[in-house]
Amino acid sequence: MRQSKLLIKTKNKNYSIFVGKNITNNISKILKEEKIKFNKCLIIVDKKVPKSSIYKIIRKIKSKLKKIIFFNSSEKNKNINSVNKILDLLFKENFSRDDCIISIGGGITGDVVGFAASIFKRGIKFINFPTTLLSQVDSSVGGKTGVNNRYGKNLIGSFNQPDLVLSEINFLKSLPKRELICGYAEILKHAIIADKKKFLFLEKNKNKILSLNGDVIQKTIIDSCTIKKKVIEKDEKEKNLRKVLNFGHTFAHSFEASLRYSKKLNHGEAVLMGIKCAVKFSKKINHIPENDAKRIINHIDSLKIKKLNDFFNLKHLETLIKFIKIDKKNKSNKINLILLKKIGKPDINSNYNVNTVKKFLYNELN
Ligand code: GLY
Repeated sequence: MRQSKLLIKTKNKNYSIFVGKNITNNISKILKEEKIKFNKCLIIVDKKVPKSSIYKIIRKIKSKLKKIIFFNSSEKNKNINSVNKILDLLFKENFSRDDCIISIGGGITGDVVGFAASIFKRGIKFINFPTTLLSQVDSSVGGKTGVNNRYGKNLIGSFNQPDLVLSEINFLKSLPKRELICGYAEILKHAIIADKKKFLFLEKNKNKILSLNGDVIQKTIIDSCTIKKKVIEKDEKEKNLRKVLNFGHTFAHSFEASLRYSKKLNHGEAVLMGIKCAVKFSKKINHIPENDAKRIINHIDSLKIKKLNDFFNLKHLETLIKFIKIDKKNKSNKINLILLKKIGKPDINSNYNVNTVKKFLYNELN
């Protein structure tokens, strides 16, 4: 399969996402086609990415000055100090707005670099090479950038669309299965909120996707990005519709936060558990046909990840509720949940009393 290209059109910027095997061989051609020029570039590389693939890319980027920072990506290092280190180097080397910063790494690296790009002299060019499945199907699309602070995750940030995204499929080969399932969680989320056909495709092709079957994985990444594109083009700044991308995430964030972002539960696993909760909640209030709910839950169970009760019991109820209450989507005292009327028909405007959500979780944990 040839490389695929998707054009994202937002109010302030249009940019392309390229997906394919060996696309990094064509960097010069793509930069020329996309009319992206710079004299200096700073490349921030996630230390987790295999060095062999990194140097191949770096050699292919033509620039009068090339600087490299190796970044130890983690939620702990996703902070303002890491942004400052990037900014300092840009100032020291006298970068201008016409120069470029490039991220090669997963979602954390992309978020930190994208944020630095948005605030350096009010905006420098930004190219993203997402190297994980999660970042290729989700965080590299749509321009959310930012860092954590002691009050929570991603509380400092900006909407900064990149100038170009290059999703090289070969990067995915080095990822453990658990990391691939993490990306698959967002692929599944996109399919469920988009339409039944996309969900049926996943039911049929889950194993091919997770074993990185060439054409299937490329189609899946592009399809997933296309679903997100349609949402963010209508609502870039999450005023309303973009909230749909939080399907399963209200619960997921509370699971991750309650475990203090322990590596025992990664983001995708929390999202899969969160989707199950959102589906069960939808069923409880008669939003979703029994068969749709069953199919989603069976699909998630077939991934054989750990379950809610492997991490939590009734002792954790208050902590979970505490984190659900501080979700960014909530207004007044109600909890905003993204629910499902049927596969492909999400409901973004359901608000519930804390006690209703608590009662639901009580039953799940019991
Ligand atoms: N990952 C959710 C969003 O980009 O809005």
